[in-house]
Amino acid sequence: MVHPLFFSPCDWEVAHLVSILATTRPRYLYHSALAEDGAYIVERWIGKNPEESGFPYILANEFICAQLAAEMGLMVPECKVQGIGQQTWFLSSYIPHESFTYGKFKQCRNIGDVPLLLLFDLWVCNEDRWDSNLLICRPEDDPDTYEFVVIDHSHALLGDANLPYSALDINPKDCFTFNELTEQITSHADWDPALSALRGLHDEVIMDVVNALPDVARGGLDTEWLIKRLIQRREQVASLLEHARALGCFPYWV
Ligand SMILES: Nc1ncnc2c1ncn2[C@@H]1O[C@H](COP(=O)(O)OP(=O)(O)OP(=O)(O)O)[C@@H](O)[C@H]1O
Ligand SMILES: [Mg+2]
Repeated sequence: MVHPLFFSPCDWEVAHLVSILATTRPRYLYHSALAEDGAYIVERWIGKNPEESGFPYILANEFICAQLAAEMGLMVPECKVQGIGQQTWFLSSYIPHESFTYGKFKQCRNIGDVPLLLLFDLWVCNEDRWDSNLLICRPEDDPDTYEFVVIDHSHALLGDANLPYSALDINPKDCFTFNELTEQITSHADWDPALSALRGLHDEVIMDVVNALPDVARGGLDTEWLIKRLIQRREQVASLLEHARALGCFPYWV
């Protein structure tokens, strides 16, 4: 068996930054594994950690939001928290993707999930939804179409603040800055499936997701407070939407 030269004796290789411009200093990481047939495979991940990013709650923000997004029915990469070397990393499985264009985005087979995405961003206080945080992919089962995959929740939930952390209460306008998304909303009925999906996230699901965050990734986070706040905010989202509408966030919502 021939091992790639870049592998040290451990299974993980922490590699280069994705981009010197990326705010949270994400890196490529490679993991060596053996397939069932004995073949040598290399998995590619994108990883972030609190020290390099400067975001003390990055592990909680990313891990919890990715799980909640998946529970709501959004497409997210496989994610995990993993100790590698001296650091604890949030890892998301590398998804091959194409550059974002509005034309491709409109062709996505999950374009109907835009209200779900907007509602999710409002719920978790995500003020960082831009084209760079939506991956445009060609689904394996139908490469003739596109699908968008949701990434990057570093700024959501507890944000980048040092203690005391954000009270999960930002101006709703800050969650709706990406016009390509907000322009898709044309009527109140557009929100109905998304509101049902969010209401369907029972307290136990929220508790399980938050409690699944490994201890090593908590960094002093009060998980009981976070669970309570997410449950409260789930109840407030419908009125926050109306507030955002009054603030002019949805130009075509009549
Ligand atoms: N799971 C993934 N699969 C493929 N590409 C990814 C993945 N996660 C991140 N990327 C790529 O890395 C870029 C930076 O990652 P991310 O958005 O999470 O960090 P960031 O610090 O917010 O960067 P930016 O400031 O550029 O938004 C993304 O725009 C995307 O191109
Ligand atoms: Mg980003």
